[in-house]
Amino acid sequence: MLRTEALSRAFGGLQALAELSLEVAPGEIFGLIGPNGSGKTTLFNVVTGVYPASAGRVWLGGEEITNLKPAQVIRRGVARTFQNLRIFQRMTVFENVWAAQHGLPTLRPRELVLPDRAAEAERRAEVRRLLEATGLADRAEMLAGGLPLPDQRRLELARALARDPALLLLDEPAGGMTPRETEAMAALIREVAAPGRTCMVIEHKMDMISALCGRLCVLNFGRKIAEGAPDAVLSHPDVLEAYLGHEAGDA
Ligand SMILES: Nc1ncnc2c1ncn2[C@@H]1O[C@H](COP(=O)(O)OP(=O)(O)O)[C@@H](O)[C@H]1O
Ligand SMILES: [Mg+2]
Repeated sequence: MLRTEALSRAFGGLQALAELSLEVAPGEIFGLIGPNGSGKTTLFNVVTGVYPASAGRVWLGGEEITNLKPAQVIRRGVARTFQNLRIFQRMTVFENVWAAQHGLPTLRPRELVLPDRAAEAERRAEVRRLLEATGLADRAEMLAGGLPLPDQRRLELARALARDPALLLLDEPAGGMTPRETEAMAALIREVAAPGRTCMVIEHKMDMISALCGRLCVLNFGRKIAEGAPDAVLSHPDVLEAYLGHEAGDA
């Protein structure tokens, strides 16, 4: 579904992503972990065309998407959520999903002219289905900015799902959540992946990642240091060292 080959991205002298080769199979929930600054978000940014690759290639399905523009990547069925949420605080929950569905993130829904009433009704129904699926149905008319964080993250997910992506990239979907909220988010991710959607999940919460993902890749300084089943990867000496070294560095 997604394949990268020796993918690299430098920022000045900093190698944020270094010759990363990965394959994510269709329908897989694949985990991407690593200490802060190890290049996880950069991978999402390069795959989605936010930053061009410095070197290497990216394929989606069988088709090469290296260095396409973000809008072109979205059109090919890739959606993502952001570590720092990108919802519209002063729009309602419903409007946020509606706007995402139209791919017109800056236009307010009431400014849209939709001459086709039947199509509009169908789109509204689809927004409601998405809110239902993400547990936000009873909050449709609330302002997004007024939601508690877990609901804001659900809304971010609903927006990503609005165009029914084949590949969903989730950047710390349980960031800032309590263990119970995290479990609920993991269950939700499992549900949205169930119809065979491919998901790649960046997360620091190892319990969640182990329970959710069949396979993991661990990055450190932009390089892959381990890949495989969660149990094997999380007990790998290089992985333990990367995390310990990082915590020691933070202290
Ligand atoms: N736009 C940018 N300009 C300069 N440096 C960047 C930029 N984006 C990321 N970086 C750097 O690249 C490295 C990897 O960052 P990132 O991919 O965000 O890490 P992670 O998501 O794993 O915490 C970090 O050192 C970060 O400071
Ligand atoms: Mg990040």
